[in-house]
Amino acid sequence: MKYGEGIVATANPVMPKIGVFDSGAGGLSVARAIKAALPDYELLYVADKDHVPYGTKTPLEIHGYVLPILKDLVDRGCKVIVIACNTVTTTMIGTLRQEIKVSLIGMEPMVKPAAILTKSGVIAVCATPTTLASKRYGLLKVNYAKGVKVLEPDCSDWTRMIETNQIDRQHIQERIEAVCQAGADVIVLGCTHFHWVENLIKQIARGRARVLQPEQPVIEQLKRVIAQQF
Ligand code: DGL
Repeated sequence: MKYGEGIVATANPVMPKIGVFDSGAGGLSVARAIKAALPDYELLYVADKDHVPYGTKTPLEIHGYVLPILKDLVDRGCKVIVIACNTVTTTMIGTLRQEIKVSLIGMEPMVKPAAILTKSGVIAVCATPTTLASKRYGLLKVNYAKGVKVLEPDCSDWTRMIETNQIDRQHIQERIEAVCQAGADVIVLGCTHFHWVENLIKQIARGRARVLQPEQPVIEQLKRVIAQQF
């Protein structure tokens, strides 16, 4: 296999094959959650280990990596692909939907639910620099977080830490402590790599902020797409 590792299960070969894609280990947490929710489906997980991290690269560079991988997943029979990457979703999901002729399900920071849930009027979004700089993310804030203060702690090194399994707890603690002290009562995990440190973040924020990430809404969306199309 050319890219990263594929996990997975062959259950019922007549069911549509689901592709799951990320730059690295982030999408693996999403793939596991999908596998648990939809055990009868064959799942093909691909990580672009050669180019991770995406979150410090330009959309143009990233697009050059992503397009051939998605085409390859289609060639290998995937009928629906989960883009388990906020960085890709927020920078190019519209373009990719014109280029790839199967359903693409993206993952983006849960700004809207966070803005609805906050009581303090302060939320924090932990995401990559490229996601935070994207037009789509900017529009999420304009459209859904009017009047809400959105904190964006520097998480630019988190993907690397998680990929190399060298998690600097002190560094994460400082970032999360700072947003809690600044009044955030909802913390959004806007990068799938950060799902691997979700429990640590929850521990640090306990009693002060709830932590949101989009695995379950994505699974619900995936079920809807499958029910409509297959
Ligand atoms: N896991 C991805 C995301 O959700 C990309 C992280 C990276 O490669 O920098 O944004």
